[in-house]
Amino acid sequence: MTKYILFLLVFLYTSCNLTQKKAAEVIISMENRGLIADSGMVVSAHPEASKIGVAILRKGGNAVDASIAVSFALAVCYPSAGNIGGGGFAVVRMSSGEISTLDYREKAPKSASRDMFLDSKGNVINDLSVYSYKASGVPGSVDGIITLYEKYGSLPFSELIQPAINLALKGFKITKNQAEDFNSLQIEFQKSNPDGCAFLKSSAWQEGDLLIQEDLAKTLERIRDFGRAGFYEGETAKMIENEMLRKNGLISIDDLKKYKSLWRKPIQGNYKGYKIISMAPPSSGGIALLQLLNSVENQDFGSFHSSQHIHLFAEAERRVYADRASYLGDSDFFPVPISQLIDKKYNTERMKTFNLDKATSSKEIKEGEISMHESEETTHFSIVDKWKNAVSITTTLNLSYGSRIVVKGAGFLLNNEMDDFSIKPGYPNAYGLIGGEANAIEPYKRMLSSMTPTIVLKNDSLFFVVGSPGGSTIITSVFQVITNVTDFQMTALQAVEASRFHHQWLPDEIFYEKNGLDSLVIIGLTKKGHFLKQRAPIGRVEAILVLPNGKLEGAADPRGDDNAQGF
Ligand code: DON
Repeated sequence: MTKYILFLLVFLYTSCNLTQKKAAEVIISMENRGLIADSGMVVSAHPEASKIGVAILRKGGNAVDASIAVSFALAVCYPSAGNIGGGGFAVVRMSSGEISTLDYREKAPKSASRDMFLDSKGNVINDLSVYSYKASGVPGSVDGIITLYEKYGSLPFSELIQPAINLALKGFKITKNQAEDFNSLQIEFQKSNPDGCAFLKSSAWQEGDLLIQEDLAKTLERIRDFGRAGFYEGETAKMIENEMLRKNGLISIDDLKKYKSLWRKPIQGNYKGYKIISMAPPSSGGIALLQLLNSVENQDFGSFHSSQHIHLFAEAERRVYADRASYLGDSDFFPVPISQLIDKKYNTERMKTFNLDKATSSKEIKEGEISMHESEETTHFSIVDKWKNAVSITTTLNLSYGSRIVVKGAGFLLNNEMDDFSIKPGYPNAYGLIGGEANAIEPYKRMLSSMTPTIVLKNDSLFFVVGSPGGSTIITSVFQVITNVTDFQMTALQAVEASRFHHQWLPDEIFYEKNGLDSLVIIGLTKKGHFLKQRAPIGRVEAILVLPNGKLEGAADPRGDDNAQGF
């Protein structure tokens, strides 16, 4: 009997290794590329937006011009996350080598306060931080887009916003996924917008139905004609204020007028000779990504999606997300120890407790020791132009369709980004992330984000542009897709298509996509002491890889309606 069990174990072990090795070989040798183009590429969450972006590139616009057109287009054709009522982050690298990172994250309104989502007993009030007028931060997107334009734009602004206005006026054919979304949210849209909104319809939405958004078109026209004042002042600002007054919302005309996006110092580091450029706080994305890369840099990954690979990544993620919960927040309000966190030695030290054979319990993991004296439904799109200028932008309303409240008369959805603050120490947000002091609510503070728009260089030249939505899973999705390319030599498409997994310290679980892991690998990981849970698709990565011959490979995530277009 014992002999039989022993045989079974040996058999399981060897066949498991064989399967993994084979999988890795097949993936690496297959020539399975995304869209190839010579002169320009746009990869975004919606075909209409990609089409508009490429048209700007064809006209001679640069990648930033195209990013402006795509941002506004997504606000029309991808209302679940594309927005003018939300915020985002842009990472730009010009072919001259100049790098800029722009923070246009939403801010807490002036009258926000630390315990605003708690009742008198200190308990969290159900849904107040996600589906209410108080859930919205002061929108940053319009200021961000205009700030990008002022620095890098080359075509007239009106030419960049007009395609979105046309799209809103003439309408566009919704996809099957969008029809399903709208149908499933009819009651919520009705409740949040008793006077009606463009997403409400008396009969069921069908794929191919036209979505026309006249109020949104008028708001975009005001932005076209008056720039930032077309949104943060005058008619649009008044409409936002009226909306707030309807149900105790907090955003005031003064909050709107004061909103300013900020150029942040990029987070930069090296990984196996590649240079990583990503977003600084108030996003945790850049810091956490570099911490993860540093944590695994000198470790053996084993074969792709082997239990060794997943165990190693999950253990690194557990440690990095524990740090995120304690040390990350808006660096204008909390002294985020950036350089210590991304220091290679610090992360090597953190991995000293890593055991090749055994999962560390998250209960045993606390944030690392840092001396605190140092100063200091989302969508991603990637664009590269013919000069090899690159833009990597992630933007969001937070949850799908944000607070679901459409500003009456102005036609755009308000974000529910306030939930990204730590509304109570240790209380999980919509993504299960916890936090404390570093990310507590304060007037004018920006809530912590996981958005990770990233650009990777090889030999100081543009190599990879990447990012994803997915809340807390954004960081681990970007981490995996980068290492799929750099360590497993995948094409951009293979790297994006490959199934993903995620660990975020708490809950102490490895989440993986349906049918994403070999059952023997799952057994192997369980034996090491991991808890695994299957879940819905993780992230929607949009990536562009510069091939050795200079051509561009665009990879749109097959998990959604995502689309790459190039020329
Ligand atoms: O900033 C953040 O980290 C979140 N508000 C992002 C939300 C998100 O990715 C939703 N998409 N699935």
